[in-house]
Amino acid sequence: MKNVIELKHPLIEHKLSILRDKNTSTKEFRELIKEISMILCYEALNDAKLDPVTIETPIKKMKTHRMNEDQYAFIPILRAGLGMLDGVISVVPTAKVGHIGMYRDEKTFEPVNYFFKVPEGIEKREVILLDPMLATGGSAEDAIELLKSKGVGKIKFLCIIAAPEGLKRVTEKYPDVKIYTSCIDEKLNNNKYIVPGLGDAGDRIFGTK
Ligand code: PRP
Ligand code: URA
Repeated sequence: MKNVIELKHPLIEHKLSILRDKNTSTKEFRELIKEISMILCYEALNDAKLDPVTIETPIKKMKTHRMNEDQYAFIPILRAGLGMLDGVISVVPTAKVGHIGMYRDEKTFEPVNYFFKVPEGIEKREVILLDPMLATGGSAEDAIELLKSKGVGKIKFLCIIAAPEGLKRVTEKYPDVKIYTSCIDEKLNNNKYIVPGLGDAGDRIFGTK
């Protein structure tokens, strides 16, 4: 699928196999979400803008480059997206952070928005949306729509697991949004959960069930 980057790496496969396991503890689940998010972020920043700088090593002066860290804003979709924030912030500590509050109605599976707070001047930044699960794509679509209505031009979406149904929906509607995922799973079940997936990401991150 165009604009979908799936990480294929033995390390990711290994970490995902522990993450998906229903017997994995909350502590380990959180740590794995953080680690995979760092790797996703690393991949998503492969077109980052660099500014030229001159520095001095202990040996000699040299011309090199540093990342313009002002170019990014991370926006987790609450709740589960918060689990990814630590990982990406450790990669780009100076990035600004916004929040989009959204939950999926249990009967209609439609997202319900309850919070939206983004940094001033968001339209000048590249926004990296964070949500571990891209299922039907409804939440991603609403979040992208909210950001576009604020004038944001460049958006990337980072998720741990994506369903083909959600990827199709989001990539068809937003061909300009790149999606980075550590795995594309088989399908959605009748309750719109990802199969085989990892269950309810928010509940597993926060230990609520
Ligand atoms: C989950 C997940 C996504 C959404 C994905 O959130 O974190 O936001 O479902 O589903 P979709 O692609 O079908 O919209 P949930 O509604 O469980 O809220 P929570 O993070 O607060 O637990
Ligand atoms: N939200 C989750 O947390 N898990 C799924 O499989 C689908 C939506």
